[in-house]
Amino acid sequence: MRLPRIVVFAGSIRTGSFSASLAALAVKELAQMACEPVRLSLADYPMPIYDGDLEAEEGVPPAATQLREQLARADGVFIVTPEYNAGLPPLLKNALDWASRVRGGEGDAFKGPVYAIGSSSPGGLGGYRASMMLRQTLALGLGCLVLAEQVMLAGASSAFDERGDFKDEKARERLRAVMTALIEQAALRAGLRA
Ligand SMILES: Cc1cc2nc3c(=O)[nH]c(=O)nc-3n(C[C@H](O)[C@H](O)[C@H](O)COP(=O)(O)O)c2cc1C
Repeated sequence: MRLPRIVVFAGSIRTGSFSASLAALAVKELAQMACEPVRLSLADYPMPIYDGDLEAEEGVPPAATQLREQLARADGVFIVTPEYNAGLPPLLKNALDWASRVRGGEGDAFKGPVYAIGSSSPGGLGGYRASMMLRQTLALGLGCLVLAEQVMLAGASSAFDERGDFKDEKARERLRAVMTALIEQAALRAGLRA
């Protein structure tokens, strides 16, 4: 029986991004579990800012179709968001908005996989407000099943050691617990054995 395919990406493409570091650690944990982890970068899916006129004239950008295909092929998706002004960064919101405009194709990118949310911030709230906005967009906007369990990394600028691992074992345990729940729920939903 095949293993659940878990897609992971961050809502930041900045060099040294803390969200990307958290996404990388998630893939590292997943690699030790019974699943097929797939790490994506939104840098590989460049899209213009959504504009209805642009969509009417040129259609959906190829990168949106490609991203949606990746999501549709996944059994689970872990998205790590930074927080911009108490909300989602435009890079991530724009990618989700464009992907939601793709019609046709195989599978259902949003109602198919199980989603889990991560957030990070150098501040004390760990991107909590952005995580709530991502939850709203995924669950209410796109009809996704989103795990209750989530990862919020506060103090992100000092959370990682020189190898990119967590300094705090509790943070690692939390990430591992959420990834375990994601694999279990994704496998259940896809009719696979977790
Ligand atoms: C436009 C802008 C708004 C920001 N607003 C917040 C905020 O509301 N809360 C917060 O915790 N950090 C905020 N930050 C700081 C980000 O958390 C910080 O830049 C973080 O490193 C971005 O995530 P990344 O490391 O994954 O790129 C903001 C940064 C920018 C550029």
